[in-house]
Amino acid sequence: MTDNKIKLWIDEEELEVDQGTTLLEAAKMAGRDIPTLCYLKELNEVGACRLCLVELEDSGKLVASCITPAVDGMRVKTNTARVRKTRRLNLEFLLSNHKVDCPTCLKSDDCELRELAEQMGIRDIRFIGEKSTFTKDVSTPSLYRDPEKCILCRRCVSVCHEVQSVKAIVPEGRGFMTVVEPAFYNSLSESPCVLCGQCSVVCPTGAITEREYIDDVWEAIYDPAKHVIVQTAPAVRVA
Ligand code: FES
Repeated sequence: MTDNKIKLWIDEEELEVDQGTTLLEAAKMAGRDIPTLCYLKELNEVGACRLCLVELEDSGKLVASCITPAVDGMRVKTNTARVRKTRRLNLEFLLSNHKVDCPTCLKSDDCELRELAEQMGIRDIRFIGEKSTFTKDVSTPSLYRDPEKCILCRRCVSVCHEVQSVKAIVPEGRGFMTVVEPAFYNSLSESPCVLCGQCSVVCPTGAITEREYIDDVWEAIYDPAKHVIVQTAPAVRVA
């Protein structure tokens, strides 16, 4: 083994990896499928969602694999009943404060939160109580923000700051009322946002989406004199 290599075991499988490799990367190399929601490689490695938990055999600790570096001699379990149960519980907590309007959500077909809930067999939201309430932001012609669908993964913040260097949105508030918004709770149109849309590309839910102009929201009006359907100007679908 060379100096910059370390050896660890993923579910009893011996593996040699470079120093600095995270447990998530090591598990992937070993062919393990670990759920992630907040993780974006080398861009958003913040350990916010806790869905990528794995168990360290020696200490029994559950750690977020996306931010935990592999250490020489480590023995890691990626799929114990405790790991699966805790990942599922964390997803249920996210869902407990999420606006669930999947049938009308623009992101419904491509929502990572919904897909993981399906994969984990979550059929009920067990934790029901007060939810954080925020207003929608429809202030720009091309982006639509619904903070009640935000899971605070920070992917949008990272891409806006680190890739685009625009810095239009930031996490604000505390605890239950934490929200990702333009600074000082302004709308996007009042912020430095350039409407590049990269935030909507990385958002795992429908919290930031492109606004949609579609034919089926044109209002059809029947003109009895000409026996034709006349369409009005397109409306903007905002919900
Ligand atoms: Fe690791 Fe979210 S993917 S904490």
